[in-house]
Amino acid sequence: MKAVIIRKNASDIDAWTLAERPAPTPGPGEVLVRIRAASINYRDLMIARGLFGGDRKNDLIPLADAAGEVVALGAGVRRWKAGDRVLSTYFPTWASGPFREEYRATAPGAGRNDGVLAELVVFAEDALVRAPAHLGFDEAATLPCAAVTAWTALFESWPRPAPGATVLVQGTGGVSLFAAQLARAAGLRVIATSSSAAKIERLHALGVADTIDYRQHPEWHEEVLRLTRGEGVDRVIEVGGAGTLPRSLQAVKPGGVVSLIGLLTGIGDPIDPMPILLRPVRVEGVMVGSRQSFIDLLSTLEAHAIRPVLDEVFPLERASDALARLAAGKHFGKIVIRLD
Ligand SMILES: NC(=O)c1ccc[n+]([C@@H]2O[C@H](COP(=O)([O-])OP(=O)(O)OC[C@H]3O[C@@H](n4cnc5c(N)ncnc54)[C@H](OP(=O)(O)O)[C@@H]3O)[C@@H](O)[C@H]2O)c1
Repeated sequence: MKAVIIRKNASDIDAWTLAERPAPTPGPGEVLVRIRAASINYRDLMIARGLFGGDRKNDLIPLADAAGEVVALGAGVRRWKAGDRVLSTYFPTWASGPFREEYRATAPGAGRNDGVLAELVVFAEDALVRAPAHLGFDEAATLPCAAVTAWTALFESWPRPAPGATVLVQGTGGVSLFAAQLARAAGLRVIATSSSAAKIERLHALGVADTIDYRQHPEWHEEVLRLTRGEGVDRVIEVGGAGTLPRSLQAVKPGGVVSLIGLLTGIGDPIDPMPILLRPVRVEGVMVGSRQSFIDLLSTLEAHAIRPVLDEVFPLERASDALARLAAGKHFGKIVIRLD
């Protein structure tokens, strides 16, 4: 079968190479899935660059997010049958409840664990969820990491934002656009930042009326305050990390929540605790989400007929072009690789 591997010792976006691998067979409790589409997350760029996931095994198969159909069952499998349309989960053993440290090293496509960018992949039967009926494989493949993360950040922490509450999303990548779509479906007001007029136009077309170009407004938190009559937002979907957090802490209202998700601008800068204490606000880390959260998200996507925003779909043979597109930061929404 064909698979993409990350070449030994490679450490940049040209590290992905198409290779032939033996087809796997499912053992007891396992399911063989023909992968039809996979999607890229920012962490996959960091893994290619050797900046995420610890010690990377040789010839690692990348990516965690996939959609496909069940083609064979190992002994004792009860949940699935041949032909079922399924999705991978980011932490295959996290069924429900709070995150535990033991889940961290289980994510596919990182460290010692081969990922899903291959024609055939074996999964534990509990590591899959059913693909929503209203989405094709390309769309459904975008959900396991970015959409679940957006869901967890918005709806799995107290206080759950009530209709009319305001959410700030940063940029137009996978997590932020899912957060914008889910927030709008829940009756929340969305304010979105982005780097260009063209992307802001696309935000408007998605129904996000309140937008801020953060390149034109480097002090973008002041714009957020202006748009909220000086109050600030109830929740920030914080994907920028060290470079954006100080402004997020100014943009959130007293008693609000900053959901700390990403590190796009980097790590390590000292954080001033004063705005957290004085306002006071809550800063809450988010770690994707459990399978139960994924199932709850899928119900909402189906109920509101929400479709993921696809940036571009690449064939498997051009997988490294897909990664290069993410690295260039030109994308709006999710980049997908289709396996025919
Ligand atoms: N904690 C978790 O569980 C979790 C889960 C998923 C992702 N993440 C992290 O969340 C971050 C986003 O992931 P993703 O997969 O959604 O990435 P992505 O799809 O690659 O999106 C990146 C987008 O963020 C925007 N951006 C870049 N720098 C920015 C800045 N300084 N201020 C505001 N926006 C900026 C850009 O959009 P514009 O050009 O429109 O500004 C860019 O296209 C990454 O750091 C990722 O590792 C964490």
